[in-house]
Amino acid sequence: MARKDLIAGNWKMNATHLEAIQMVQKLGYRLDPSDYDRVDVLVCPPFTSLRSVQTVIEADYLRIKLGAQNVHWESGGAYTGEVSPGMLAKLGVSYVIVGHSERRQLFGEDDAVVAAKLRAVLGEGMTPIVCVGETLEQREQEVTEQVIGGQLQAALGGLDEATVGGLVVAYEPIWAIGTGRTADADTAAAACGYLREQVRSQWGDAADRTRVLYGGSVNPGNVAGLMAKRDIDGGLVGGASLDPDQMAALVRYWV
Ligand code: PGA
Repeated sequence: MARKDLIAGNWKMNATHLEAIQMVQKLGYRLDPSDYDRVDVLVCPPFTSLRSVQTVIEADYLRIKLGAQNVHWESGGAYTGEVSPGMLAKLGVSYVIVGHSERRQLFGEDDAVVAAKLRAVLGEGMTPIVCVGETLEQREQEVTEQVIGGQLQAALGGLDEATVGGLVVAYEPIWAIGTGRTADADTAAAACGYLREQVRSQWGDAADRTRVLYGGSVNPGNVAGLMAKRDIDGGLVGGASLDPDQMAALVRYWV
């Protein structure tokens, strides 16, 4: 079954809401209807920009999808500083990144937290983008598959086939994030293919529908080589997504 490519911009902690408005408007100008037919285009601004970006998307009838970078797993209550899945869904958010390595490493999110967030996102009808990835030490110790397979299992274990088929998984080797050091296309494809086979071993044909992204220093110069790989269905892009010209070039990687 054909999987639609997804180019997802993870803006991380960048851009005020005023800058975000300009960024999404510029991106909208640079894309044609045929681009959206071919690729799902997603931007994930910080929480403070979600409402502003949503307003631009609606007012300008843009087909850019809106995503969030994080969420809390509870539906509401005394959780100072947190944002619930329902709040995001009401804002037109359709994708939520869970388990990004920066959240795992800098904010102490473990597999249990990632699994809880993933289920909370699904509960509001949004699509989780589940991130997995190994450190440089783990790659050198040749335990990449155990690490990413374990993270995948911890996040997805217990879900049914229909749900897993609708998920997005992002393979993001930690040594390639923000370093300019991309995994070469073969290395990235091997890990993405491994993840897909892990899905297949438990959820069968769902593996043909689950989209698997690569993330880590994706840029307009390396995107075509990555996208040419059968098991890579798109990119989760940090730095390059902040520049609308580069983001548009990523979406139009085949041009
Ligand atoms: P990068 O970030 O493209 O800046 O390496 C990717 C990510 O962290 O999702």
